[in-house]
Amino acid sequence: MQQTIDHLRAEAHRLIEKAASLEELEKIRVKLLGRKGEITHLLRSVKDTAPAERPQLGALLNQLKVEITATLEEKINSLSAAARASVTRKWDLTLPGNPPSTFGALHPLIAVLEEICDIFYGMGYSRGDGPDVELDYYNFTALNFPDDHPSRDIQDTFYINEKLCLRTQTSPVQVRTMERLKPPLAYIFPGRVYRNESVDASHMAEFFQIEGLCVDHAISLADLRDTVHQFVRIFFGGERAIRFRPHYFPFTEPSVEVDMQCVGCHGAGCGICQQTGWLEIMGAGMVHPNVFQGVGYDPDAYTGFAFGMGIDRITMLRFGITDIRLFYENDLRFLYQFRGAV
Ligand code: PHE
Repeated sequence: MQQTIDHLRAEAHRLIEKAASLEELEKIRVKLLGRKGEITHLLRSVKDTAPAERPQLGALLNQLKVEITATLEEKINSLSAAARASVTRKWDLTLPGNPPSTFGALHPLIAVLEEICDIFYGMGYSRGDGPDVELDYYNFTALNFPDDHPSRDIQDTFYINEKLCLRTQTSPVQVRTMERLKPPLAYIFPGRVYRNESVDASHMAEFFQIEGLCVDHAISLADLRDTVHQFVRIFFGGERAIRFRPHYFPFTEPSVEVDMQCVGCHGAGCGICQQTGWLEIMGAGMVHPNVFQGVGYDPDAYTGFAFGMGIDRITMLRFGITDIRLFYENDLRFLYQFRGAV
């Protein structure tokens, strides 16, 4: 009998300990102490035992009953307290809400875009913009692209219909602006551009460019060089050489690609610049006479330079980011690193 009691006691404590709800506890109470419960049953059977054993057995079983009842009560109290606490947490609408952990901030690309604009405002430039959905005429024809130029190809350009596309560059805004205004003018045009690229660590199908345009009497390639050099000094800091490499764009003549000394090694050669010491930062050139003619400017009276750079690329160089996709995934852990940095 002693063994039965010990076993029952251990089992009862185990069940109560494990119980996770008041309903479960009630079932355990019925199973042990209810009218047909196991302890109740044993207590009833005392009268059937030998008279000499009855007092001791009765005492043992009563003690078990008292002990288990107390344990049950204790557990009921702790479960109800926990239930009350969780109800309070869920439903007490008078409690103050969780304050947002941080304030919002500009996206790093937008912050850099604004910073670049500020640098050019400092050099006397104004800011303009144009539509993202652009006429094929402004995106290509007015920029002196021959009809069969490869970048008109459906592969690179998102066409909406025969005449409309998503602009592949910010250069069409040059044309729109020159149609509206007479020289002299100095403008920057930041904005989103779209190309049918397969996405990888350095390509997105949409990204940001900023275009610059300066037109007056006797603007020269030397003005372009000094303007870009000044921008590079302010944006990247320190004295940093730039160089022009001959290139081809239909809307500039001559055309160049501009390199600057590498942000990582200042020209010595490192992993960032593939050991060349130089990083390409923009395309540029002198506005083509055909573009001037198209907007009604006299190419014999005026000259001008234009440049276009990728804001994503410039931002990556500035912060040593190696995957352009990070800008567009909008993972706050990535984005918040730039608060205050730009
Ligand atoms: N539009 C050119 C591009 O997207 C860049 C550029 C702009 C080149 C202005 C020359 C002058 O590649």
